[in-house]
This record gives sequence, structure tokens and C-alpha cells, in this order.
Amino acid sequence: MKGTFPVEKFQKMETPFYYYDTNILRETLKCINEEAGKYNNFCVHYAVKSNANDKVLKIIREAGLGVDCVSGGEIRAAINAGFPANKIVYAGVGKSDWEINLGLEKNIFCFNVESIPELEIINELAAAQNKVAQVCFRINPNVGAHTHANITTGLAENKFGIAMEDMEKVIALAAQLSNIEFIGLHFHIGSQILEMGDFVALCNRINELQEQLAKAHIKVKHINVGGGLGIDYQHPNKQPIPNFKDYFATYAKHLKLNDDQYLHFELGRAVTGQCGTLITKTLYVKQGTHKQFCIVDAGMTDLIRPALYQAFHKIENISSEEPMETYDVVGPICESSDVFVKAFDLNKCHRGDLIALRSAGAYGEIMASGYNCRQLPEGYITEDFA
Ligand code: LLP
Repeated sequence: MKGTFPVEKFQKMETPFYYYDTNILRETLKCINEEAGKYNNFCVHYAVKSNANDKVLKIIREAGLGVDCVSGGEIRAAINAGFPANKIVYAGVGKSDWEINLGLEKNIFCFNVESIPELEIINELAAAQNKVAQVCFRINPNVGAHTHANITTGLAENKFGIAMEDMEKVIALAAQLSNIEFIGLHFHIGSQILEMGDFVALCNRINELQEQLAKAHIKVKHINVGGGLGIDYQHPNKQPIPNFKDYFATYAKHLKLNDDQYLHFELGRAVTGQCGTLITKTLYVKQGTHKQFCIVDAGMTDLIRPALYQAFHKIENISSEEPMETYDVVGPICESSDVFVKAFDLNKCHRGDLIALRSAGAYGEIMASGYNCRQLPEGYITEDFA
């Protein structure tokens, strides 16, 4: 089955563009709130990096989620969309002074600190503003995840976080810095994770670290386990809403928390992935020696995931019901990697047919570039076609 799209209305639009199905987005948010709401100390933040379209951000803000930002630009985008600053967590290995200053000025909830030099600078800048910065330390748990190598983050070889063996030393240092308040620990092992066992491994590691800290009489009020829950790219219609029930239940079951501790999540892809589709138009159908190409007007500049991570996005010809034929679907960019899919079956394509690249709501529009002097794609929501 194909997704349901207002095809006639799409035909009048300039392509390529992103389309966000706000019914799916709202259902997804409702499910998150219901499932996380079963546990009274769970706080869900939305990872803005996955999609910062302002219309999408507003809907997420209306659902009451907090936000996870990784740059000053994202802090601004979140505040412009109406997220309260006291629900903003801010991570990143390389925070510039102006970004730290912005976070301090806005009184964000927490800086997720990734190194000692960064901690010292935050302390200095906070002193200059006469403020105390709340910090969590991002600990590299050395836990692998069954996902693409480019999107695992929790191994010792990755650039992220503070090594486990340095944890107590860093917490002790924070206690000496007068403009720093240590409030918790932050983790993130990777993205597009579908095996709950990976999250269980993270829980086990956090339990060990918490035991170690309890012995040293160190109090940890907040635990932030990052994001990472994956989506079903093969079957966007069968499973438009990720399995939040199992995801939150896994943490509730395996992570040992005290009654006065809060557990934070930073979900990106699982929130926005399935509601988004890249709509593009067939420019030409070209017969190659051994195959046929469907050449579309969107390229890797609009959706880079297939070129960068060999990611699969389900593709549909939403203008045709003709029998299936096999195509390589390619873009117009002057790069051999500008291929969306190889040897894929689509209803027979003609010039002008609309092609939908599904599950593109996360890390799609936001990763678009102007390479080849191309225009950035627009993003529209269901209400824009009412
Ligand atoms: N928290 C931290 C610290 C992160 O680094 C990330 C993602 C998230 C939360 C959100 O993760 P999610 O729930 O979306 O998996 N561009 C890549 C994904 C990069 C993810 C980077 N970090 C892609 O298109 O697959």
C-alpha cells in the first residue's frame, strides 16, 4: 500500500519539497506521552537536530516535550518555537563561547559537558554572567550499538563524552568550581537502534556507574540516556509509530533509579522520521545498457542519507498504478553517489510522475545543502494543503 498523499495538490507545487503528515506526527507524540507518562519520573526531550522545521517544532512543543539542542542555532530555533528554556538540554563536543553564553543568558536547564576544558570555560563564562550553570557529564559508556558505524557514538574510540575512568575526577572538579552545579550524567550510544538489548546494555553500565558513585557518596539527580530508538524504514505504513511501549518499559525494567531521580530521553528520529516524505518529480526515464534509470529532480543535496550512510528509504511512484518495473532512482547532482536506490520496483514511471521518498522526516530537510548551487527544499505540513 502507498501512503496517503494529496497528489492533485502536490502536482501544482514546485518540487522537490518535504511533506510532513501532521496526523502521524501528532499520533506519535500522543503515544510518547502516554507511554512515558506511565512512569512519573520520565522526561522526554525532542532532539532538534533531526528536524528543525518551525511548523514541526511548534507541534512538538504543543505536545509538551522538552528539547535537546547541539548548537546555539538550535537553542534559538527552540526558543523561537516557544519551548521553555528550562526544558532545554544542550550537548556537543565543541561548544563555542557565544553558544555557552547564549545558554547561560537564557537560563537553559542543563549543559551536557563533554570534557574538562569545556567545564572550565563554562565556569568562567558563568562567573562573568554571575550565574551558576547546571551541568550533566556526558560519559562515554563504551557500549556498542547494532547500527551503522557512522552513527554509533558510545564506544571508547568515538570523540564523544568523558571516559568512565575519569568520571569521579571530573565530578570532584565540578564541586570545586563555584559557578558550576553538577546535577547528573548523560549518555548516548548511537542512532537507529532497533535491538532493545543495546539499551539494556546501557542500563547495566549505568547501574554499575551509579553503584560506584553511591559508594563515593556522590548524589546524581538526573540520568539522561540520550536518544537512538530506530524506525522501520522498510515498512513505513505497517509501523508508522515506533514501539515506544517496549522502549520505555525496557528502561523502567533495567535501569535502577531512586525515587528522587529523574530519567531523561532525547529522541529525534523516532519522533519525526515517519511523518516526513520527500516529494520529487520524474524528469526523465533513461534506458541504460543493462538497466533503466528514473532521474528525479531531488538529489543528495535534499536527502543525503542514502549517499552518506547507504540508508534505505522506501520509494513510491504516487502518480502511477501501472505494472511494476525495475529502476535505479537517481538525482541530478554531479556525483556518482547521488543515487537513492538501485534495482527497485516502482509502478512504471513517466516524465512528470511524482515520486515519494518515505520515512524522511528525520535528518532529511535539516541535512540539505546548497551543493551545485541548488535551492534548499521547502517543508510543508498537512494543514498547508487544507
Ligand atoms: N542525543 C544525542 C547526544 C545525539 O547525538 C543524538 C543524535 C540524539 C540524542 C538523537 O538521536 P536519535 O533519537 O535521532 O537517534 N544523521 C544521522 C543520525 C545522526 C544522529 C546524531 N545524534 C542519520 O541520518 O541517520
